[in-house]
Amino acid sequence: MRIGIIGAGQLGQMLGFAARDLGVECVFLDPSDQPPAAACGHVIQRPFDDTMALSELAATCDVVTYEFENVPVEALHRIEDKVAIYPPAGALQHSQDRLAEKKLFDRLGIPLPGYHVIDTRNDLDAAVDKLGLPLVIKTRRLGYDGKGQFVLREQADIDTAWQTLGGNDLIAEQWVPFDYEVSCIGVRNVDGDIVIYPLSHNVHEGGILRTSRSPVDAPALAETAEQYVRTMLEHLDYVGTLALELFVCGDELLANEFAPRVHNSGHWSIEGSATSQFENHLRAILNRPLGSTASVGHAGMVNLIGDIPAAALEIDETHVHDYGKSPRPGRKLGHITVIGEAPAERDKFLDTVYRIVTQSSC
Ligand SMILES: Nc1ncnc2c1ncn2[C@@H]1O[C@H](COP(=O)(O)OP(=O)(O)O)[C@@H](O)[C@H]1O
Ligand SMILES: [Mg+2]
Repeated sequence: MRIGIIGAGQLGQMLGFAARDLGVECVFLDPSDQPPAAACGHVIQRPFDDTMALSELAATCDVVTYEFENVPVEALHRIEDKVAIYPPAGALQHSQDRLAEKKLFDRLGIPLPGYHVIDTRNDLDAAVDKLGLPLVIKTRRLGYDGKGQFVLREQADIDTAWQTLGGNDLIAEQWVPFDYEVSCIGVRNVDGDIVIYPLSHNVHEGGILRTSRSPVDAPALAETAEQYVRTMLEHLDYVGTLALELFVCGDELLANEFAPRVHNSGHWSIEGSATSQFENHLRAILNRPLGSTASVGHAGMVNLIGDIPAAALEIDETHVHDYGKSPRPGRKLGHITVIGEAPAERDKFLDTVYRIVTQSSC
């Protein structure tokens, strides 16, 4: 078996390691020099929409998947009659445009924060009237790790927001005073079998995921989130791993966004689940029986952002993942997972790792 993976970043690398354990070969398509997934398979170093390279993937692989959501949809359309591509292009298309994504949530009855499309400077005033302040303006496409966002706190910020982001397709969203953020990761295989992971409680700093912990002791929320994810997987005729990010407000959940791929908030599943999100993604696209998502203890994960301090490597009984990327401020270079027997033990351990990682980071 041979899987073609578009993108060779850290998600591709972790898919590649999982594939190796399953005895499956991976080949990647990525224009970058020495991408992380080069550690576990051949990389065709060409642009993501390179016709020759895509044809090579289609001709030599049993199935093609992708590890990031900005793959040009027409690139997939060009090869989809030659090879199976999962997740389906329709899911990718919805996730690439925040407006299409929000309309999808609306159609599926998944609650979400109020929003307003911004095409002109006047639309910003209308958004403030409709949604109130504060609100957040986001680019509809290509945003990640909090990039392409501007929080509007008062009327006086409108001009700066327009100077900063005007010229892009934009959307305004009501600012949600959430209690905390969670994500729910689900997997569906070609036969339509579904498994759902326990909720992950996620903390972002400056728009970038910093820590995750799972499971979360909130059975009613978990049941609601699972229902939303099942609805999405079935509606999209989805195959593979999907992550839904949600805001928790009291006993309500509001959908923030979804990713049609393996997700940073599920990295703890490598050591913290019977079957990781990466292995289950591969099983799903190969149409194999899905693995159990039962938790193995209580997991916590800290992202290593900007640099990997030497002290972070010296903490006993942690699982350090170094993606092999060169350091750069704000860049995700790796992560550390800890497992505790009880939530309190996990939290204490995670806090210690977080302190060491952030205090010794530049
Ligand atoms: N409407 C909002 N209300 C409150 N916080 C928000 C809102 N939108 C985004 N955020 C914060 O910013 C983070 C990143 O925003 P998100 O829309 O998920 O963009 P990205 O694609 O960069 O992950 C969220 O996880 C959340 O912490
Ligand atoms: Mg997000």
